[in-house]
Amino acid sequence: VSATIRQAKPVDYDPIIVQLDDWWDGRPMRAMLPRLFFDHFGDTSFVAERDGTIVGFLVGFLSPANSAHAYVHFVGVDPNHRGQDLGRRLYQRFFALAAAGRRRVRCVTSPHNLVSVAFHRGLGFVPVSGPAASEGVPYWPDYDESGEDRVLFDYQLAADRSSG
Ligand SMILES: CC(C)(COP(=O)(O)OP(=O)(O)OC[C@H]1O[C@@H](n2cnc3c(N)ncnc32)[C@H](O)[C@@H]1OP(=O)(O)O)[C@@H](O)C(=O)NCCC(=O)NCCS
Repeated sequence: VSATIRQAKPVDYDPIIVQLDDWWDGRPMRAMLPRLFFDHFGDTSFVAERDGTIVGFLVGFLSPANSAHAYVHFVGVDPNHRGQDLGRRLYQRFFALAAAGRRRVRCVTSPHNLVSVAFHRGLGFVPVSGPAASEGVPYWPDYDESGEDRVLFDYQLAADRSSG
């Protein structure tokens, strides 16, 4: 059965949050995804559903401060459903939504999360140059808090459209 991508709803929070740390390989991620994202950013967030079960999600928003930017805060796919383009399809829905008015999509990820770095580069994100680099990928040390390094990824929606 192929998965359906649909807009997120507040009730989607509960089934997602109980699985979050498992989907992130046991890393404690839950504190970074409070319910407010599903209550207040559902219109610009998406879930992937297969047989009524959520197997992936993307939480994003149109930047209130920067009218050219959209931002993706979280994207995750059930480990049993990876490598089937669900992450790509979630992003494609967000790109389509953001392209109506925004020029770039931004997100950040840890330079140690090599799958996330490969995934975002595979989708066409480019790392913003930074003061440090790991395996050729620039990053910003201590970007979030001390010890929390981040790669800053940028995706140009306008260039994407003009290249067909
Ligand atoms: C990152 C993640 C969302 C990818 O989801 P996915 O549905 O498996 O990815 P897709 O099948 O859509 O892959 C799209 C492209 O990303 C790249 N990619 C995805 N997984 C990859 C991996 N394990 N290694 C290398 N490249 C990978 C490939 O270029 C792939 O394109 P291809 O299949 O044509 O080669 C998923 O692995 C995940 O949930 N990881 C844990 C959570 C996380 O780290 N999220 C991101 C940080 S917030």
